[in-house]
This record gives sequence, C-alpha cells and structure tokens, in this order.
Amino acid sequence: KPLPDFDMVLFGGTGDLAMRKLLPALYQQVKAGTVSPASRILAAARRKLSRAEFLDLAEASCKPFLGEAYDAATWKAFAERVSYFSVDAQDAASYAVLGEALGQHPDRVRVFYYSTAPEFFAAISAHLGNAGLITARSRVVVEKPLGHDLESSREINDAVGQHFAERQIFRIDHYLGKEPVQNLLALRFGNVLFEPLWRREWVQDVQITVAEQLGVEGRGDFYEHTGALRDMLQNHLLQLLCIVAMEPPTGSDPDAVRDEKLKVLRSLKPFTPMDVATKTVRGQYKAGAVGSGPVSAYVEEPGVAPDSRTETFVAVKAEIDTWRWAGVPFFLRTGKRMPDKLAEIVINFRPVPHPIFGEAAHGGRANRLIIRMQPDESMRLYLVAKQPGDAMTLQPVNLNLDFAESFRARRLEAYERLLMDAIRGKLTLFVRRDEQEAAWRWVEPILENWASSEERPKYYTAGSWGPAASSALLSRDGLAWNEED
Ligand code: BG6
Repeated sequence: KPLPDFDMVLFGGTGDLAMRKLLPALYQQVKAGTVSPASRILAAARRKLSRAEFLDLAEASCKPFLGEAYDAATWKAFAERVSYFSVDAQDAASYAVLGEALGQHPDRVRVFYYSTAPEFFAAISAHLGNAGLITARSRVVVEKPLGHDLESSREINDAVGQHFAERQIFRIDHYLGKEPVQNLLALRFGNVLFEPLWRREWVQDVQITVAEQLGVEGRGDFYEHTGALRDMLQNHLLQLLCIVAMEPPTGSDPDAVRDEKLKVLRSLKPFTPMDVATKTVRGQYKAGAVGSGPVSAYVEEPGVAPDSRTETFVAVKAEIDTWRWAGVPFFLRTGKRMPDKLAEIVINFRPVPHPIFGEAAHGGRANRLIIRMQPDESMRLYLVAKQPGDAMTLQPVNLNLDFAESFRARRLEAYERLLMDAIRGKLTLFVRRDEQEAAWRWVEPILENWASSEERPKYYTAGSWGPAASSALLSRDGLAWNEED
C-alpha cells in the first residue's frame, strides 16, 4: 500500500542508527514501491558535507546492512529523494535553511526523526516551533533513551510537548516492531486456545531474555552512563512484559492497547531496598571468549573507567499485582557478551496436577511456549507425547511455527514497520508518555539502590550466561532459565 507523500527530516542523519537502520528501512520501502517520487528524505547532521559526499557515505555505510536487497538502480531512485543539511541543532539559522527546503506544504506529512542524543531534543523542538516548521500534519519520532531517570524524562517530554501534541509524538521502542512480538498479539487475541490458560492458575513463570554477543562496540562513553537497566530493561524488556501480561484490549486502536499496557506497568510490584538486594542482579563482564574469539573485559573498553560499576547484565524477578498474575514470577534478563544473540519469551505452564503415568515416565516435563525473536523468528509449543515403543515413556515434542518457512513474504525489519507507521500516523506500536514514566518509576528504586550501594557488580566471564546470582534468582523458586534445563 503506498505511503502518503511525506518529508522526513532525520536529525542525526550521519549517525549509526541512520546508517544501520533508518536509511536502509527507507531504501527498502523505495524498493517496495511505496514511496512516491515526491516524497523526500532530508538528512541533517552537524558535519559539513555536500549532498554528494553524504550520499557516498550513506551508500558505503548502508550497503552491508542491505545485503542482497542492494542494487544500483534502486539506490539511484532512493538517492534522488535524499538531500543533506549541515545543521547546528542550537542555531536558529540552520532551521531557516531547513524551512526553506521544506517549503509550504500544509497537506504533506512531515516527520521529524530525533536520532540524536536526548539533550538536543528540547532545543530542536523549540527551534522547529519558533521557525514555524511544525504543521498540523507534522509528527516527531523520538529515540530512546528518553532521559536517565523519571525526572529527566519528564523534562524532555515537557520540552517536546510544548511544541507537539501527544498524538504527534511517536516514542519508538523498536522491540514493538519485531514480527514475533506482533505475532504474540495475534496468538493471544486471534485465538481462543491460549487466553483461558494465560493466567496464574496455569502459568508457573514467565522468562524474558534478550542476550547479545556484542559488547559496547565503541560506545563506552555512552554506555558508562547508561548501563543495561536503562539501555534495555526499562524499555524493551518491560514493553515485552506488557505484551505478555496485558488484558485483552477492546480494540487495536492506539489508546485501547496503550491503556492496557499502562495498567500492567502500574501493577508491577514496587521494589523495596530489600527486594533490590534479593530480586535483582547487577552483572558486568570480565574478559572471556565469545563466538570464535577472545574478548576483553568491560572495564578495558575505551571510554570506560577502570573501576566502573556500570552493569552490562541485569536480571530481575518482577511480580504483577493483579488477579490474573498474582504470585507468577516474571524473570527478565539482558546482557552484553553472552554466548548467543538470543531474544525470547518463555511461558512455562504448570505441571499436570496429578501425573497418572508416574513422575518417572513424565520426567517432570510440562507445557511450554517459546516465542523467539532471535536468532530465528518462531513460536514453539511444547507438548508431552508418548515415545513409540513398549513402555509408557513420555517426552516433550514441539509444534514449531517458523515464520520464515510458513510465510514466504519478505519480513519487515522492526524499524521499517515503525517508520511506515509513523508516516501513516499509526500510534499503536509507540509508547505513550504515561507508560514511559510508569516504567521509569518502577526501575528507579533499583537505580537508586545500586547507585548508593558500595557493592560491586557481580562479575561474569564474557561468553557465559551471566553471573551465578542470575541462576540463583530462579533456583530459589525451584526454577531454572530455559537453556539451563
Ligand atoms: C538498542 C540498545 O536499543 O537495542 C543496544 O541501545 C542494543 O545497546 C540494541 O544492542 C539491541 O537491538 P536488537 O534489535 O539488535 O536486539
């Protein structure tokens, strides 16, 4: 379906995200034929580059991420829509130049994408507003991290909110754009089979893992002040938790879905200082080996203090105080320098109430649903079946829905889907301000307690599944992380 004519201004246009995700996503849409020739992409960044220099840089940088999708003819068609502006975010004159390029097109969709450090968001919004560039059909996409705690996120939201209405603000969390996450919604609310079981009576525990092999990849300066809790858990993992735990919304319109997610975030049991000690794990990697090669310790990365206490791994036991979920632990963990790039949600159902074949035949197995985002995109439902043969020996088998095999259509990258949604003005997969603030409110006691404690992070060897305390978090409840079975 074609997109409406749009102008997209990409602040941070020479940055990593633009090159790895945003420009490739727009290229893919040009290739798919949805972007009209009149639509324009205005890249803006501090560097002084000519349009040709920018395009050379973009082509060289995007090519590896486009892989087989790259071809010279499409690139040419894409490049025709691209211009470049050297912009000083703090300087009014820069916006006058942008304004001239944008011209007077009140009916055209205008998307401002803030892919810069969040400290510029206020200034950019004010300058855009003062220069009269924010039309009724304008929207702004803001990247995370939006602040480093509740108060700073409020300040940024206030500053952006002075110039854009809430319905114009698209807070992006790219995990919500991932295909299996969408599919989890389809599974829960497009079928009758799961919903009756989706509650404390039948679910024993939920595990959400987002593990990466990568380290901090030259972003040491940024990461030192961020850490895994702010970088991943406050946003991506909590959003996944919301999708798993929310009540059925009344429809798929943005506020119906976001109201339900907000209720989950507000029902998360707050952490006391004692809970922070017993229900959270702060880890940091030491030197080790990941994949095929040795890697150094976090504290040896450029830009990292030798005595840094920043966490590169976090695990928490979250609880949701509602009738549906009371007493069901939600274990969340994320870390850098883990053995695999693995992102999955595991729903462990309870064991059968009475094993008529005996415990031995059963092997303690129960039903389990695994929704994978990485490395493959799939959904597996484990059932217990009888092994062929004489004895009544049971074994788990899985019904495997592999999205790549089941559906031949090209799968959209998360950013691609979300950019299109922003252009179309569809807010459902974007985070509302109150959700974001509720998420900050919940993680704040953890941040505060960690900051004031003298304790060092728990160390783990790069290439392992995190510190021993992470397994202990589950074994105390007689449980284990999925791969440690
Ligand atoms: C980003 C984090 O939001 O998500 C990065 O800032 C992280 O540190 C990335 O690497 C992971 O995203 P994905 O889609 O590769 O799992």
